[in-house]
Amino acid sequence: MKNRIQIFSSKRLRQIFNDLKRTSDVAKNELKISTKQLKSYLRKDKSLDIKLVEKICSKWPIHPQELISSKILFNKPYRFFSNSKSRKSSRTIKRGKINYYEYRDTVITNNAPFKPEWIRQLCLVKNNKPNNKNLKWNKGHLLHQLTYFVGKVNYYYIDKKGNKKVAIMNTGDAMYISPYTPHTFASRDKNLNAHIIAVTFTGKITNEVQNHLFSFNKKNFKNFVSFKSLKDLVNMKLKDNCITYSEFEKTINENNLRKKLNSKKIALNLRKKLREHLDINFNYFFPKVLLGNTIIKKDNSCLKYFFPQKNKDYSIKNIFTFNYLSGLSMFELKALKTKSKSYLDSSKHQYIYVLNNNLIFKYNNRVLALKEGDSLYIKPFEKFKVCGKNGKALCIRLEGNLSDQIMFELSRINTKDLERVINEKEKWF
Ligand SMILES: [Fe+2]
Repeated sequence: MKNRIQIFSSKRLRQIFNDLKRTSDVAKNELKISTKQLKSYLRKDKSLDIKLVEKICSKWPIHPQELISSKILFNKPYRFFSNSKSRKSSRTIKRGKINYYEYRDTVITNNAPFKPEWIRQLCLVKNNKPNNKNLKWNKGHLLHQLTYFVGKVNYYYIDKKGNKKVAIMNTGDAMYISPYTPHTFASRDKNLNAHIIAVTFTGKITNEVQNHLFSFNKKNFKNFVSFKSLKDLVNMKLKDNCITYSEFEKTINENNLRKKLNSKKIALNLRKKLREHLDINFNYFFPKVLLGNTIIKKDNSCLKYFFPQKNKDYSIKNIFTFNYLSGLSMFELKALKTKSKSYLDSSKHQYIYVLNNNLIFKYNNRVLALKEGDSLYIKPFEKFKVCGKNGKALCIRLEGNLSDQIMFELSRINTKDLERVINEKEKWF
């Protein structure tokens, strides 16, 4: 059948045999398949039928995920999604009985964490009161949300104390909404032309993680994750390492540790000891910690600079840089030249939303004249440029599953062995 998606593949079969210390002969007998069939599976990336996947997963402690074909992932260096395609995806969503939002798709792929939408607010407000009766609130959602504003839009949210708040936003302003923050948007533009680019994304709580959580004892799990302070995190780490407070105090030569951890300022020396002995990551306790927060960023408070500083191919308006939230960076990019010298490659997945008609995208010999409302997804590590006098775009970069931890682990593997990480072909024992 043409265009049939290959869901399961034999690509990782040799690796699975290796990990379970099965030779081909042993595996063939246990799975009751012929030598010829097994050889063909091991020779190249072949589609596995669901019956064989079921057999493998019932015979051995293997998760079907390990047999998912890599071909199922978006397999091109970039994807372009035009404004006209976006317009065709338009649908009006009612809240209650009134038309509340017009939604349009922008670029999306199945290998990246972005779930972006173009949204026009159809509810017009004549005042800025957060308890306006015309507003229809949602319950919040697990996906993190970044929003870029085009025109006069009010953003309403419930703050940490449970109070309704309003942020009066204009073109170039942006904000971040953390999971499960109830929110809504309304227009202050009489012509109802104002809109937002709402880029929701999965952080580290992926579908796979959700499945795992489902299998844990709920009460015990909730006790473990209910830490709100550094002290709670240290409690968890001590428990994980089977060491009591008093023993740990002796080890690191500190008295009254509980009290010290409760104070607002943790001495540098103590931080060093906690990092060294318990691998505590202090990023999670910095004042700008994201979780449970809404962060509003006004256009005039963003840091602005040139990239590269010498060539000045681009000017950057940095909106957010939160490395500890999936390596997130969000910025407005302005191309300053008709011929840019510098590439915009990155270790992150990139989402680009075009904000005017002056931008040209260049990838190898391919050239695309971009229009306002077009969008692009670009894979990590791909070299590309954009150019054009004052061509403007919104850019969002996310690490997806290429976290610092994974990049570091990969960086410790010899270059010659990286090919084996990607595709293990041989029996190694
Ligand atoms: Fe939302």
